[in-house]
Amino acid sequence: MTKFFRLIADTFFVNRYGHRAVVLETVAGVPGMVAGVLMHFKSLRSMKTGYGESIREMLAEAENERMHLMFFIEIAKPNRFERILVLFAQVIFGVFYLFMYLFFTRTAHRMIGYFEDEAVISYTEYLKIVENGEVENFQAPLLAINYYNLDRNAKLSDLIKAVRNDEQKHSETNHAYADNY
Ligand SMILES: [Fe+2]
Ligand SMILES: [Fe+2]
Repeated sequence: MTKFFRLIADTFFVNRYGHRAVVLETVAGVPGMVAGVLMHFKSLRSMKTGYGESIREMLAEAENERMHLMFFIEIAKPNRFERILVLFAQVIFGVFYLFMYLFFTRTAHRMIGYFEDEAVISYTEYLKIVENGEVENFQAPLLAINYYNLDRNAKLSDLIKAVRNDEQKHSETNHAYADNY
């Protein structure tokens, strides 16, 4: 599934990494929220403690992905088609992931772990073309500078590195949840 989704993204966003980041981050914000909400409900149903840390972790992941979107929206403005794509992706992927999480929780975390691994690869490619000058390495958005506590003169490349670190962490978290489920 991961390779299939990757192929679609690669075909659609050939060398348009800014747009790719915007559209895919709108999708990336979905699974953490779905997982957090379902974990919360599970905790209520089972009337047991021990879910708090995971719930907060998943909600924090969703929040973090939403922030990624806010950074890249300042760098690339999606066209009308991409906006429609985002709408469809949210409905289709949202419902798909909800059912996947309900019935195949472990696989759901594993899949997100793999998605995050691909995100690390994509941001590494993006970083490479920014560093070699193919894409202008302009000033990082102020929102990102404040969020990551970056230097005032931080560049797009610094932002990409910070975001890539987040994706790496999401990968580790989701793979660990899949391992221990
Ligand atoms: Fe992200
Ligand atoms: Fe992520």
